[in-house]
Amino acid sequence: MPFQLTYHSLASREMTGKDLKAIMNIAIENNQKLGVTGCLIYYNNFFLQILEGEKGTVLELLNKIKQDHRNEQLTLLSTDESEDRIFKDWAMSFYHLPEKRELAAEEVQIKNHLIELSDSSDKPNFTLKVFWYNVRQILLSEGYFRDSPYIGEN
Ligand SMILES: Cc1cc2nc3c(=O)[nH]c(=O)nc-3n(C[C@H](O)[C@H](O)[C@H](O)COP(=O)(O)O)c2cc1C
Repeated sequence: MPFQLTYHSLASREMTGKDLKAIMNIAIENNQKLGVTGCLIYYNNFFLQILEGEKGTVLELLNKIKQDHRNEQLTLLSTDESEDRIFKDWAMSFYHLPEKRELAAEEVQIKNHLIELSDSSDKPNFTLKVFWYNVRQILLSEGYFRDSPYIGEN
């Protein structure tokens, strides 16, 4: 049964679009080989990521990310075993809240959740699952498909 975990961490410095693309490129390339799927969110200088796959593989990857100098204070929010993967179509998807226009109702919800998740730990699996399903819905509705992350201009 696939294993899932969600963590958050602080970016060691403000990430540019180029920085984020570099992370996403390596993540997609490696995760395809590892059979790992998931989603990465960058918001207000913090990362929130869900990793899904074989337990040992996912935990090893988490360890690697923990040691990555681009982030610090990595905090595990939840782990779970689940029948199906939420992000099964993506080796790693990327979600970015739009900055240049007013947020739609679902986006406001995501934003409020993100603020809440950024300063707490030990989230119930259910809360996080609902959160990630909402993110997935938005990605799908934006026609954001496999391995073509839209990250931003700079
Ligand atoms: C926030 C964040 C998320 C990352 N997510 C992944 C990921 O999902 N998969 C991955 O292989 N690397 C990810 N990385 C990059 C790894 O930390 C590491 O740099 C990369 O796997 C290359 O490792 P290697 O040089 O040992 O091959 C992430 C890095 C950061 C800062």
